[in-house]
Amino acid sequence: MSTMLPTGWRLLSLADGRQAIWSELTGRHLPVTDALLNSIRSPEPLPAAIEQRLDDLGREGDLLIDRVVCRSAHAMVLPDRQTLWHALPTERTAGGFSWRATPLTIEDVRVHLAANNSRTVLQVAQRTGISLQGVLDALMPFLRADQQAYQLRRTAPRSRDRSLHHLVAPARPAGPRRADQYDVHGATALGAWHEDGIADATTHFDNVETTFAHAFALPHPALDGEPYGARLYDHLVARDLVPRSATILEVGPGTGQLASDLLTADRGTDRPRVARYLRLDRSPVLLAAQADRAPQSEGFLGDATAPPFPDGSVDLLVSNEVIADLPAVPRSQRNDGPVSARIARYGLTTLSEGSLYNLGAWQLVEAGARLLKPGGAMVLTEFGDLDELPTETTHLDHPEVSIHFRHLALVAAGCGLQAQLEPVRDLLRVHTHTQWLSRASWEGIRALHRAEGAHLEARAWTARTVPRMTRVVGLVDVPITEDGPAPVLQRLWALVARKPLTAIC
Ligand SMILES: C[S@@+](CC[C@H](N)C(=O)[O-])C[C@H]1O[C@@H](n2cnc3c(N)ncnc32)[C@H](O)[C@@H]1O
Repeated sequence: MSTMLPTGWRLLSLADGRQAIWSELTGRHLPVTDALLNSIRSPEPLPAAIEQRLDDLGREGDLLIDRVVCRSAHAMVLPDRQTLWHALPTERTAGGFSWRATPLTIEDVRVHLAANNSRTVLQVAQRTGISLQGVLDALMPFLRADQQAYQLRRTAPRSRDRSLHHLVAPARPAGPRRADQYDVHGATALGAWHEDGIADATTHFDNVETTFAHAFALPHPALDGEPYGARLYDHLVARDLVPRSATILEVGPGTGQLASDLLTADRGTDRPRVARYLRLDRSPVLLAAQADRAPQSEGFLGDATAPPFPDGSVDLLVSNEVIADLPAVPRSQRNDGPVSARIARYGLTTLSEGSLYNLGAWQLVEAGARLLKPGGAMVLTEFGDLDELPTETTHLDHPEVSIHFRHLALVAAGCGLQAQLEPVRDLLRVHTHTQWLSRASWEGIRALHRAEGAHLEARAWTARTVPRMTRVVGLVDVPITEDGPAPVLQRLWALVARKPLTAIC
């Protein structure tokens, strides 16, 4: 079929089943319907708007000298290594793309460095003193669909244009799953995975599952230069949620970084408030790491859905980005009991057939309501939304399920708590105009470290702050509300629930 298209154009299958014409003259593509494809192949004249879009693709014989040379966010120049470091669109894994170092000549390097998303081919030639044909020859291999490192555009991209961050690629495959990550009813069941599947606490949150808190454990302007745990402490104190001589229970503390930063912030005040800091976790490996990082705290091995503490013993329960790990249960006739009973008890909406319910998160709220002292509070953060159907992530090696926060708040209210939902962005007053590396740049720089046998922590780096082993040109920063090294902020919500002084649950 592709022989019927003009020279330099080929037909590609897109991940969503559609087709696109790819131009290897410019690295531009155009998704097409069958009807449009037939019109293009027919000798009949096409509507002007379509002609214009086809012109944008570039045709054989076009003068390309006025086109703007634009580098994909998935491509970086390593001038001192004389290589282009770029993602391979056809080699996609659940964790991202494979990356390759393609050797460049010294002249090629000059061309790649002069390409800055606003210079035309002619301007690149003038700046480098290389002939127009030399510039085009240097770029041509990278305009192919199997490289996609450059595009020759008619105009420079606008600053909000994110098209250079996307590759035309197969759908992202789902991550691997273990049979013991689900129970017989299809509910998520991560007990065994937490107990023996987490092997290395120092790299787990860099390589396997990066939380927002982990990424922002490094001082960042988004949090006025504070680490996440210290920022959380400030706002909890400001809301009067940390009384004097407080007992704090953190459920699922991960590396213990939040505990350490929160306690350091508390100890740095004139009158520290925290008397006891308890940690509950299901992973022995993480508990040991937490003890090293926050030695002033006390660790307990146990399950968040049945915390082993006396009723009325906790002033503040914190659980950051944990509850998506707790069992999420599909409702069916065979296992209807615990979910249906709560739907009736708390007045929850029934979700569409086959949907998951965040049963484990509800159980933590119920248990927390019993553990809290009168006047105590719980703060649970996680990814999800107010009314969105709980959805299982597919890119991780274990199932996490987003939280239906409206349900969670109804459960809290049903347990006698005063519940409030708010975006984590507001809870922590995050400066959303600040930046971090784009997802593509983060994947690229991490892949570069891996290729050299080095480890790069998953932090909210920017192009200026990210550690690098060689000069890297082409790292792109984006606002922290866009895809970067960690989950996007807009997906993070918090349940803040207080137990009234007179409450009996
Ligand atoms: C995604 S990590 C979050 C870590 C940390 N709070 C953060 O924000 O970076 C989930 C944490 O909860 C713990 N966890 C998961 N399920 C648990 C359960 N059922 N009971 C206790 N801890 C659990 C994990 O071992 C891990 O420490």
